[in-house]
Amino acid sequence: MAAPNVLGSYFTLSEGGEAAFSVEPAALKFGPGVLREVGADARALGLGRIGLITDARVRALEPFAVVLDSLHKAGIDVVVYDQALVEPSDRSMIAAATFAIEARLDGFVSLGGGSVIDTTKVANLLSSHPAEFLDYVNPPLGRGRPVPGPLKPHIACPTTFGTASETTGIAVFDLLDLEVKTGIVSRRIRPTLGVLDPTNLYSLPPLVVAANGFDVLSHAIESYTARPFTARPVPAEPAARPLSQGANPYGDIACLEAIRIAAAHLEAAVRDPADLPARDRLMFAGLLAGIGFGNSGNHLPHAMSYPVSGQVRDYRAAGWPEAEPLIPHGIAVVVNAPAAFRWTAQATPDRHRAALAALGEEAPADKAGERLAVRLTGLMRATGIPNGLSALGYGEDDIPTLAAGAFQQKRLVDNAPRPVTEADLAALFRAALRYW
Ligand SMILES: [Fe+2]
Repeated sequence: MAAPNVLGSYFTLSEGGEAAFSVEPAALKFGPGVLREVGADARALGLGRIGLITDARVRALEPFAVVLDSLHKAGIDVVVYDQALVEPSDRSMIAAATFAIEARLDGFVSLGGGSVIDTTKVANLLSSHPAEFLDYVNPPLGRGRPVPGPLKPHIACPTTFGTASETTGIAVFDLLDLEVKTGIVSRRIRPTLGVLDPTNLYSLPPLVVAANGFDVLSHAIESYTARPFTARPVPAEPAARPLSQGANPYGDIACLEAIRIAAAHLEAAVRDPADLPARDRLMFAGLLAGIGFGNSGNHLPHAMSYPVSGQVRDYRAAGWPEAEPLIPHGIAVVVNAPAAFRWTAQATPDRHRAALAALGEEAPADKAGERLAVRLTGLMRATGIPNGLSALGYGEDDIPTLAAGAFQQKRLVDNAPRPVTEADLAALFRAALRYW
């Protein structure tokens, strides 16, 4: 007798198919002023000597002084490491891990953007369970070895929003020799506690708010439109169930609410730096979207973003302090999103229609992909996002290498709601060259 389907028509049980999804809740604290509580949080975790990991820019800012003061007042011995990079690499992460091993820490506090938090996850991993760097890296580039046991406590304090690294078991970095972005994914590397203080967002430049806001929107739409968890084969053993398990009823709740909040407040938060409640709400939407993609997983816009960021030539974005050319993550993601969703909607129109409804527009299912793309490009224009890949310096000649790079992002490509070939990715990059 077939089992009753209590979860809705998107989740269809089949013989040999996955029938269970898991929920990995992150421990989080959200509110203005919570950075002042980090010392007490570290004490409550029993920590006596922590590594405070940040980057050189954040070290000069007010939140760093607040966290350091809070840790000192709690009587905690602090060793500062400020060499995390905005674009972390295998080399920079190994350097942070070497620091962590030599400093003999019993826990970590990270303060910065997603790159700082990701660096801390890897430093914690490699100092807790030493191994060759590639051992834990996602296959096929790495060996995908499971993390053998728990890590040391890690309190993650984002100074920006969007990556939601504080909620996830994902760390992303460049492999310098291969010139490719990849990552480590394990529930074991998820921070012990995320401490989100929205006042950290009040000084962010408009384009940073726009780029990160679109990262949030894309996390939520990708995770909501990902292939259903029931489409995977049942795993050989429960521990083999992946962290990116596909769309599932728990992730769905967080994603739809994240889309609603981000869509309602993104333009105001970009246009009016004095609209502080709009920024508070974006930080909360980022947190919800992180819960969504941490349990469901992103797909094509993120897979496509990695070669777009990685193959940058001379693009520089206003509001980012780096001297080197850089395509910020949120921009690299959203330039692909309209083309990708227009195409994935052909496979799962109802999911895309529901995502569009959360963005504030109704459409029949057969028009959902097109309308979703138009809604996103309208928001992009209104918030100063570059007009597609051509505005980032890419042209027709770059498409084969971009497609090859995206196709290597197997975990993400396989999470799309329809089968994807390298030729499909080339067509999507071509469609993403220019939108208006
Ligand atoms: Fe992202």
